[in-house]
This record gives sequence, C-alpha cells and structure tokens, in this order.
Amino acid sequence: MSAGQVTPEPPFLAACRRRPVPHTPVWIMRQAGRYLPEYMAVRQKVDFLTLTKTPDLAAEVTLQPIRRFGMDAAILFSDIMTPLEGMGVDLDFDPGPVIRNPVRSAGHVDGLRVGDPEESVPFVMETIRILRRELPASAPLIGFAGAPFTTYCYTVQGSGSKTFIEAKAFLYAEPEAAARLLDKIAETTSRYLSAQADAGAQALMIFDSWAGLLSPRDYRRFALPAVQRIIAELRSHRLPLIYFPNQGSTLMASAREAGADVIGVDWRLPLSEARSVLGPDLAVQGNLDPAALFAPRDELARQVDRVLAEVGGAPGHIFNLGHGIERTTDPAAVAFLVDRVHEQTAR
Ligand code: CP3
Repeated sequence: MSAGQVTPEPPFLAACRRRPVPHTPVWIMRQAGRYLPEYMAVRQKVDFLTLTKTPDLAAEVTLQPIRRFGMDAAILFSDIMTPLEGMGVDLDFDPGPVIRNPVRSAGHVDGLRVGDPEESVPFVMETIRILRRELPASAPLIGFAGAPFTTYCYTVQGSGSKTFIEAKAFLYAEPEAAARLLDKIAETTSRYLSAQADAGAQALMIFDSWAGLLSPRDYRRFALPAVQRIIAELRSHRLPLIYFPNQGSTLMASAREAGADVIGVDWRLPLSEARSVLGPDLAVQGNLDPAALFAPRDELARQVDRVLAEVGGAPGHIFNLGHGIERTTDPAAVAFLVDRVHEQTAR
C-alpha cells in the first residue's frame, strides 16, 4: 500500500482496541432475524437449520440488517448450537434448540467426540468467505460461538429453560462427568472459532447467555476456566475477542479475568459501574434495554443518550442492546437507534 492511502481502521475494530473513533460504532445482538420482513421472506422457503447450512442464504440474511440500517459490524448468521452436531449431539430447532437425547450420564459424555469444524460444519467457513467478499469495509464480520457453560446448559437440559435445573443438577451430582463434558465442548469451540478466524472473521464473540444462573463461586469453578482456555488458544489470531456474560452483574470482577478485549454488558448494570470494575484496559459493549425500542421516540432517544453518557466519550465503547432484539420490534425503531448513536457521537 502506498503512503497516504492507508485505509482507516473501521470504527468497530478501533473501538474494540480502545482507539479513537469518528463515531461510536453500533450493532445489535440478533440483528438478523424474525423482526425483519426480508428475513421472514427467506424463512418462508427454508427452515432455520437449513438456513444455517446453506452459505448463500446465511450470507444473504447476515447482509440484510447491514443494507437496511448501516450498522458498524455484521455478525455471522448461525447459532451457538451449530458445532454441537459435530460432537454427535442430535440437534433440532423449535424455535430454540431442541436435543432429542440430552446428555445426562458419564457414559454418554465419554461417547461424544470433539468436533472437527472442517469436517462437520464446512458451511460456516464457506458463509464467512462469501461475506468477506460482499460486506462493505465499514462493517467488519464478527464470528461467534456459545461459551462452554451456556452450550452445556442446552446439551444437558435438552431445550431452553428458565432455570436449566437438569443442567445444574448434573454439575452438582456428577461434577467429574460435567467437567469432562465442559472440556469437550471447550475444545470443540476453540477449534470452531479458530476455523472461523482462518476463514476471515475479523472479531470473535463468545456468548455466555446463561452465566447469570451461577453464583460467583460456581461461575469461577464451572464456567470461567473453559472461557479462559478458549481465549488463550485464540490469541495467536490477533483478532479482538468479545466475551458476553449475560446477567453478569455479580460476575464482572471474575469476567474481567476471562482474557477478552471487550466485555458485553447486559442492561441491568450501568456501563459506568461495569467500567469501574473492569478497569481501563477493557472495552465494553452494550447496553440499551431491548424494551426501549418499544418506547415513543423521545423516550428511546433519552435512553440511548443515557447509555452514551455513562461512557462519557471515553474510548472503547461499542453500542449494542443489553441482550438480543425482540421478535416484535419495529424495524423503524432500529433505524432511529442507529442514526441517533451516529449523530450524537460524530466527532
Ligand atoms: O443476527 C444474529 O445475531 C446472528 C445469528 C444468531 C442466532 N442465534 C440466530 C437465530 C446468533 C448470534 C445466535 C446466538 C444464540 N442462539 C444465543 C446467544 C445469544 C442470546 O440470545 O443469548 C442463544 C442462547 C441461542 C440459542 C437459540 N437459538 C434460541 C434461544 C433460539 C430461539 C430464539 C427465538 O427468538 O425464539 C434460537 C433460534 C434462532 N437463532 C433464531 C435465530 C434468528 C430464530 C430462528 C427462526 O428463524 O425461527
């Protein structure tokens, strides 16, 4: 590249590295999905599992929110449960993950394989390669996976749950078998994220959606070590690594030790408080209440501005919701949100 023609770093990647940005970057968890009519048009033709396994279609629905709203990052269209099939887990969706034969014994754990991504989920890497050709440079591609504890919850429970009581019972009744299962999931996840990086993902995010089910003590025992191990193994790729411990208000001091560059914060904890626990060396991502998108525009604007004020213009903030967007959200509210963040933070 000749002098003077260096392409500026996209705001999303700059913010992950706590560098100055021309505006605060914004994207939305679950930005591709059922609140968008163009997503529903694709889903009319194929079921969700087929959609995740068809690279052209998965790439198309990843691009939909970027085209419509001009977000500062794209997230691969897939699911946290996708790599589990490669371990020998029998996966379906209705609409959340359903596992017909949940893992409930030491023998079942020992019969599972460590998944090889090139063999079991090559369609994910193909989707990433298509997206890198089609995405604008302003929207870097985030690859992702579930954190081992969250993936473990679905694998043992067999479906979504408020309490994941079977999954937690297995932790306490069979701690050694549970630890072996968490290890196998962690190894599968590490290889899976590494393959995404090799295929062209520009940042990687680990979703720990159910971390908040654990006390700080159990979180440090059962959830954190597996995340630390994955992050340590991914460091050689030199990509920003984002870790999201959902409902993690009481876990922030521990989550800080995950080794990530960016911590996702749900809406229950003000970003100012999260930052005072996390310290100045970590960026934060979040954290508007997804319900704010149902408020009148002036109230939505106030809540967006409040999130921005909590950061106070310090570097290292990626604007997002505090959890995934709700299915009944009006897309026009999302357009308003993205524009508001860009306008209020233009420097
Ligand atoms: O735009 C994006 O964010 C990309 C794709 C994405 C999906 N799932 C697509 C999806 C991502 C990043 C996920 C992650 C995911 N999946 C998580 C972690 C994030 C979180 O919300 O905590 C979890 C826990 C899952 C498990 C899962 N998959 C659930 C609970 C559901 C049901 C969700 C619902 O809204 O009912 C799914 C299915 C799923 N994954 C859908 C989508 C778009 C809906 C499927 C459909 O079209 O019917």
